[in-house]
Parts: sequence; C-alpha cells; structure tokens
Amino acid sequence: MCRESVTVKEVLRFGKMTGNGYLHWAKVHRRVQYELTNSGVPSASLNDIGASSIPVDLVVQGPYGHPSLIERIAGIYAVDESRVVPIMGASSGIFLSLGATIARGDPVALESPCYDPAVRAARFLGADILPIVREPNKRFRVQLHEIESQLKAGVRAVFLTNLHNPSGQFTDRETMREIAHLCLRRNATLIVDEVYLDAAHLNLGQPRWSAARLGDNVVAINSLTKIHGLGGIRAGWIVANKATANRVRQLVNLINGDNPAPSEGLALQAFSRLAVLEERFRRFYRVRVPGIFATFFRKLLPH
Ligand SMILES: Cc1ncc(COP(=O)(O)O)c(C=O)c1O
Repeated sequence: MCRESVTVKEVLRFGKMTGNGYLHWAKVHRRVQYELTNSGVPSASLNDIGASSIPVDLVVQGPYGHPSLIERIAGIYAVDESRVVPIMGASSGIFLSLGATIARGDPVALESPCYDPAVRAARFLGADILPIVREPNKRFRVQLHEIESQLKAGVRAVFLTNLHNPSGQFTDRETMREIAHLCLRRNATLIVDEVYLDAAHLNLGQPRWSAARLGDNVVAINSLTKIHGLGGIRAGWIVANKATANRVRQLVNLINGDNPAPSEGLALQAFSRLAVLEERFRRFYRVRVPGIFATFFRKLLPH
C-alpha cells in the first residue's frame, strides 16, 4: 500500500500529469521478493466463494446493476436501493464519484499523501486541487482545521480514504460525521473511499459503519477487492444521494454501459459467503501476514 501514494504537492510538481503514474509502474515493474504494491489479502479462488461449480450467467440483469446485488448492498448499508450504483471496482468509483460531483475548474480538496489515481482522476477532470495535509508526525490523522480551511477556500468536494492509504490511519465515525457536517455547511460533497474500512470492523471490533449514512452530501465508495481478495471480479459500488447516484449512472452509460454479467453473478455469490470471506481475512491477518502488512493494521488502528 505504501508505494501507491503521492503527496498532492508531488503530483502538482509533475505538472501536466502526462506520465504513466503509479499504477502503470505497479503493473509492469520487475517482480521483487517483498512486493509492496499489493494492498489487499491474496486473491480468493472460486472455491473460496463456493462458485467452482455454479453456472456463469452471461445475460446482463437490470439497467444499472443486477437488482439482487443492489438489494444486497442497500441492505448492508440500510439505505434505499436508489442510492446504490454497482460499478467496476473502487478505481472506477473514484473517477465516477468525482465526475458526478465536480465541474471543470472546481477547487477540490484531496488528502495528502493520497492514493495516486485519485489525484490523477481529479486532475484529469479539470479540478483545481488543494491538499488536506495528513502529517506523518501526527500519525497521518486527518485534521479538521485543514479541512475547514480548504472549505473556506471554496472547495466543492473533499476526498478522503478510510483507512487512509498510505498510512492505514483510521478515522472514527464521530470525526467523519463532523467532517460531513463541515462539508454540508459549505455545500460541499464528502467522498470517502472505504475499500479498507472493514478491516477496522473485522480485526479490532469496531462497529461496522459507513460514511454513507452520515449525511446526504456524502458519497461512499467500496469494492470486494481488498478485504475479500476479489479484485479480479471488478465488483465495486457507490452509495450516494439519489441525484448523485443518477449522475453516476449517466457516467456509467458513457464508460461501460453495463457491468459484466459474470462479475455481478460472482459478486452476488461472494456476498452469500461473506462470513467465510471475513474469516479468511481474519485468518490472513492473524496467521499469515508477516511484517509490514500486519504492522500497518496493528499499529495504526485504535486499540
Ligand atoms: C484507496 C484505494 N482505493 C481504490 C483502490 C482500487 O480498488 P479496486 O481494485 O476495487 O478498483 C485501491 C487499490 O489499491 C486503493 O488503495
């Protein structure tokens, strides 16, 4: 996870953002013994989700995501189904949620250091990027005064990751609620990428929660990739207010039209085996993780 991030300053220094960026390097670099570009549990197999012998459906179901998948995700978040948009992973979630909430030239605040593709997506969409500095000597905790000052500067959206990539720092629900309120007061959207958040629930007994429930101005992004090792399925989702969810659907129409039917079927199957996958995550965390990944979770999450 560490190598995936850049400071906003670094990206701005690179100017036009015409370079390949972190993800290209992560995909093509020479393999090394201690691979730090993988930030989730190892890939799960069809066996892990009990799908080795189920037929794969090739027919797309539903205009904007498989209705059963939407129902399942809406159930987990306890939100209306109209607020859920299945998408092809959290990466698309970052792009789509920024695309649905900002316009070219808008000031947008991104945490710094930040997951590199988020900065690049905001830049690509023409945002004027302002940093929310998460300082190493403050254990990368998000500082409310940093957010307030960028809101005063007029940002239209604030982008955070929880857990924070690269540090793994956890932002608790009350702090996140306060951030959502600060954004609401200034009519700004809070976008939270929660691909690692369930780690706090599964290993440290934190209640399961999502920023999606903390305000109508909040967009939450998640996927089955990191905690469940199902990156290959490309199954993610956005939870937003109805208007934002509709804008996301319009963007999906421009990009991929429908999600792949086999992926949505497999995602549904994975959701039906969530308890098994969660146990797999715990096992990986407790038993198999040497060194850096364990340190990442153990040191930075609350005890
Ligand atoms: C913070 C963050 N968001 C999104 C992603 C990508 O997630 P997905 O594989 O679901 O597209 C990553 C991958 O490392 C990540 O670290």
